[in-house]
Amino acid sequence: MDKLKRPALYLLIVLAMALGTAVPGYGKGIKSHMDRFTNPDQCMSCHSGYGVIGTALLQRAREAMCFECHGDEGTGKRKNRARTNIKAVLEKVSAHPVVDTSHLHRTYEKLPEEDSSLERHVACQDCHKVHITSDEEPTKGAKGYIPGAVRGSIGDGPRRGLRKKQAEIEYEICYLCHSDSANRPSDSRNIAVEFNPLNASFHPVESTGKNKSVPSLKLGLNENSRIGCISCHDNDDRSGPSGPHGSDNEHILVARYRTYDGAEHTSAYEICYLCHRRSSILGDESFNLHRRHIVVEETACYTCHVSHGSELNIGLIEFNVDVVDPPGSGGPITYVPGGGNKPKCYLNCHGTDHTVDGIDGKAWPW
Ligand code: HEC
Ligand code: HEC
Ligand code: HEC
Ligand code: HEC
Ligand code: HEC
Ligand code: HEC
Ligand code: HEC
Repeated sequence: MDKLKRPALYLLIVLAMALGTAVPGYGKGIKSHMDRFTNPDQCMSCHSGYGVIGTALLQRAREAMCFECHGDEGTGKRKNRARTNIKAVLEKVSAHPVVDTSHLHRTYEKLPEEDSSLERHVACQDCHKVHITSDEEPTKGAKGYIPGAVRGSIGDGPRRGLRKKQAEIEYEICYLCHSDSANRPSDSRNIAVEFNPLNASFHPVESTGKNKSVPSLKLGLNENSRIGCISCHDNDDRSGPSGPHGSDNEHILVARYRTYDGAEHTSAYEICYLCHRRSSILGDESFNLHRRHIVVEETACYTCHVSHGSELNIGLIEFNVDVVDPPGSGGPITYVPGGGNKPKCYLNCHGTDHTVDGIDGKAWPW
């Protein structure tokens, strides 16, 4: 930008400030970034007449500007002005790759991406519109996406979802990038397929769950409860800033989850025990061989259960094929739910054959 054009843009931003109400949401109640007490510089704390070229006259480009207050690199009076240090959270073991990819964000971009050759990215602005966010609604104004109302064939089928100017519920923001994106890496899954309410079972994110008897649920939760993506994907430091920015646990998980077999311990399956009573699971209140498998045979929850949802099986049952093989007698790995909690499984696990006749040749123990 040459020097002559700068004053013109300066006037523009000053005009916008004078007509403050022209900025979406400004003027309707107290928004953190517009609060005169916490942010006395108002618009000028982020914008300036000499803004960085290629931005909306912002003092610094991209997240560097947010880190002035939400990090530890701010200078002078701005240092640590916000209580929340997001920069440090993004440096954890597992995190959204904001710092590495936010330069690819475009204000008028289309998400989910329809072109597989576009580079994948995530920026603060994808989840936050700073002019209108408030303490109660930190993601207010962010765009959203709903997979097709009629989802059609199950699997990565044709893209026919609905793009929304403003998400109404948090998971719609996540689906911008974790569902039908054409540039989703081959090793990352379409999460909307897993939470499809037409599935046989799912954790109750998009709608209430299908199982009307989940005795392990902790106080405060029941079969009609709804949970969010961030019930599980959140900062592991519960006294730090909340949100799915980063965690020291894999997959940005709020608590530990060991997915391979080994001795049972509260910390191994910590995340499940946040909502499901350990005493109920190990006390066989539902599946009457839970304890036998989890404690005696040291089988991980993940060997039998998926975390999001299962297209085919009730009870979130899907076996981890890294551990479980098809039954010796042939045929595919199969789960047959049984009335009165007497399910049957056809599979081979560490040499133990579960067949039509029973387990290792012995009749089913029911
Ligand atoms: C906390 C930092 C922050 C504050 C405070 C702030 N802005 Fe912004 N503003 C931004 C960012 C970031 C963008 C770019 C948004 C994008 O790229 O999606 C922006 C964009 C804009 C735009 C371009 C159009 C748009 O809405 O995206 C205008 C106009 C604007 N701001 C005016 C204002 C005015 C007027 C004020 C004071 C009432 C203000 N801003 C306060 C961060 C801020
Ligand atoms: C001038 C300082 C400042 C800058 C720059 C700034 N923030 Fe904030 N932000 C605050 C303060 C103060 C709060 C109130 C809560 C707190 O102390 O953390 C806040 C709160 C938030 C919240 C929580 C929701 C809310 O509105 O209370 C979000 C989300 C947020 N900021 C995102 C951003 C993003 C994204 C950027 C960069 C585009 C940014 N902020 C830049 C000062 C700032
Ligand atoms: C603008 C795009 C975008 C949005 C919106 C978004 N993500 Fe992500 N997410 C990414 C990218 C990029 C990665 C890095 C891995 C990849 O490319 O899938 C990632 C990684 C993750 C991971 C770690 C995956 C792993 O295997 O380690 C989780 C968990 C996650 N996101 C959850 C969420 C949740 C929950 C939301 C909604 C609150 C959300 N994301 C919204 C782009 C996005
Ligand atoms: C009940 C807890 C729970 C909820 C709710 C939940 N997740 Fe997860 N998620 C997990 C666990 C545990 C893993 C890691 C093990 C696995 O892949 O099943 C995971 C893995 C992921 C991954 C990495 C998958 C990959 O490709 O390897 C992404 C991305 C993700 N979740 C996004 C989401 C989104 C988006 C939502 C909301 C629509 C959501 N999750 C809701 C527990 C949850
Ligand atoms: C993938 C989406 C996503 C991205 C990217 C993201 N955030 Fe957030 N952020 C969230 C969600 C969701 C919450 C709300 C958590 C809640 O409701 O408890 C949140 C909460 C926050 C809060 C409030 C935390 C608290 O404890 O009050 C701040 C501040 C914040 N984000 C700043 C940022 C900044 C700055 C960036 C970029 C450096 C950023 N966020 C990037 C999704 C995101
Ligand atoms: C050997 C396979 C297996 C393992 C390992 C296993 N489960 Fe299960 N689980 C089942 C079966 C079978 C059911 C009954 C499903 C149905 O409704 O048909 C079940 C039901 C459940 C239920 C729903 C009913 C209730 O008790 O509230 C929860 C919750 C559950 N399991 C959690 C866990 C957790 C947490 C772990 C790990 C600590 C775990 N399971 C390990 C097979 C297993
Ligand atoms: C944030 C709370 C929360 C967390 C964390 C959580 N669950 Fe759940 N879970 C629920 C709720 C609520 C239901 C009840 C849904 C219903 O009624 O179908 C449920 C139901 C289940 C069911 C029964 C589903 C069915 O359709 O039969 C299984 C199995 C299960 N959870 C396993 C797990 C495992 C394994 C973990 C750890 C990876 C876990 N849950 C973590 C809240 C949670």
